[in-house]
Amino acid sequence: MRPSVRVFADPLAAAAAAADRLVALSEPAVAARGSFRLAVSGGRTPEPMFSALARRPDGAARWSAWELFWCDERMVPPDDPRSNFGAAQRLWLGPAAFPASNVHPVDTTLGLVRAAEAYEAAVRRGTEGPGFDVVALGIGPDGHTASLFPGSPGLAVADRWVVAEPGPALPPAVPRVTLTLRSLCDARVAVFLVSGADKRNALSEILAPATRHQTAATLPAARVRAREGVEWFVDRAAAPVGLEGAVAG
Ligand code: 6PG
Repeated sequence: MRPSVRVFADPLAAAAAAADRLVALSEPAVAARGSFRLAVSGGRTPEPMFSALARRPDGAARWSAWELFWCDERMVPPDDPRSNFGAAQRLWLGPAAFPASNVHPVDTTLGLVRAAEAYEAAVRRGTEGPGFDVVALGIGPDGHTASLFPGSPGLAVADRWVVAEPGPALPPAVPRVTLTLRSLCDARVAVFLVSGADKRNALSEILAPATRHQTAATLPAARVRAREGVEWFVDRAAAPVGLEGAVAG
């Protein structure tokens, strides 16, 4: 299934559209199963998406059916500016009065290995995998996603849903806990939000036609599949050559 790519004039437009898409994807999940299991990423790019979610007038009626997890987390305290949970709490969960019982962060007060083990127990459902309805992802300039960097153990692990990433090459160079590639591919839909010219080269590789599959296969974000598809929300600056003109509404 080919990924869908929507290009927007600027980062705010892309983030607002991604926020609306998460809400749209939540509705059939809540109707069918009574809840919407979402895992979000950190970094700079999703911040306006979190703010857009916080501003939704219908949010209060929705959040009690959302179960929120993280695709990865840096092993820092929640009040550390590098915390992925801390950013979502500051921009979305606090302002939107998101029910705390529906928020499932990585427990970064534990050591790295214990934090990964505890989060594995939190995301799995018995013998079943996480079964996220949506994983909301970004990419780094090196094509990483979540904390799956080129060569990361989490790319090859086949018997766990969560792994520790002791020392990524890119900043913030702190140990992380991350969903494995297996977890991301177990989701119904993967929604990537990408903005900034620094992502264009990686995105071009990731979205390259299959004829360059060898290159694309080495980039972690290129290896994400999802049961019902992968969707890209991209701003013009990050859009691969040839796509930058196809600006969505
Ligand atoms: C993390 C993120 C990571 C992020 C990319 C892009 O914890 O760092 O989950 O995968 O999505 O690094 O980060 P920016 O949005 O800051 O460019």
